[in-house]
Amino acid sequence: MVVPARGPERLGAPGVTPPVQPRLEAGFIAGLVSDYCADRDLPAPSSARIELTVLDRSHALPASYAPGDLVSASAAGFAGGSGGKLVSSRIVNDLAALRADSATAGLSISITSAYRSYASQVSTFNSWVARLGLATALQRSARPGHSEHQLGTTMDLTSPGWNGRFGNWATETAEGRWLVENGWRYGFVMSYPLGSQDVTCFSFEPWHYRWIGREAAAAWHASGLYLRPFLERYVGG
Ligand code: DAL
Ligand code: ZN
Repeated sequence: MVVPARGPERLGAPGVTPPVQPRLEAGFIAGLVSDYCADRDLPAPSSARIELTVLDRSHALPASYAPGDLVSASAAGFAGGSGGKLVSSRIVNDLAALRADSATAGLSISITSAYRSYASQVSTFNSWVARLGLATALQRSARPGHSEHQLGTTMDLTSPGWNGRFGNWATETAEGRWLVENGWRYGFVMSYPLGSQDVTCFSFEPWHYRWIGREAAAAWHASGLYLRPFLERYVGG
């Protein structure tokens, strides 16, 4: 296996200066605003491929949006609680390959959260507000409509024995390190890497992986961009 030159450093290592991220021009995709860290509800521009939809603190899915092709992650070979999580069927083949290859490498990746409906995100967000207050919750949890989990293509992952929810799973576990190095090969990208908050508007989430397809993920890996600006550029032109 060839280890990519930049991914792990970019994604997870403390003390490593993140790459310079270009601020893309407003409206690179028609209708996207450039000050997308502002909390408001603008419609996310539709993409022919729903997995490439740009979501952030300004742009949201409709409350009524739900994938029409949800299946349980058992279809990708996951068992137990992980197997009962719902995902879009479009990610199943790549998720199955990721699970199988990581298992062959002696690793055990499990799913703590996958598809979340708009209504479920209402509960999730409100629980964070109750725990942390609004200002901090806004950095940790997407407001309803703004979560990539509503796409059905996004998962929070973990591994046996890991309970440091806000530690660095990406560097402190073999599974986290493997995903940083290899997840993109299966189409999965960490949305909110260490050091990316100024660009992504959310705090570091080493467990949160979004599937964008293998072709897009390879282009993302080559780009050196964080996912949000990458999608704006990739989808927009
Ligand atoms: N924690 C991420 C931002 C979400 O709620 O989708
Ligand atoms: Zn997540």
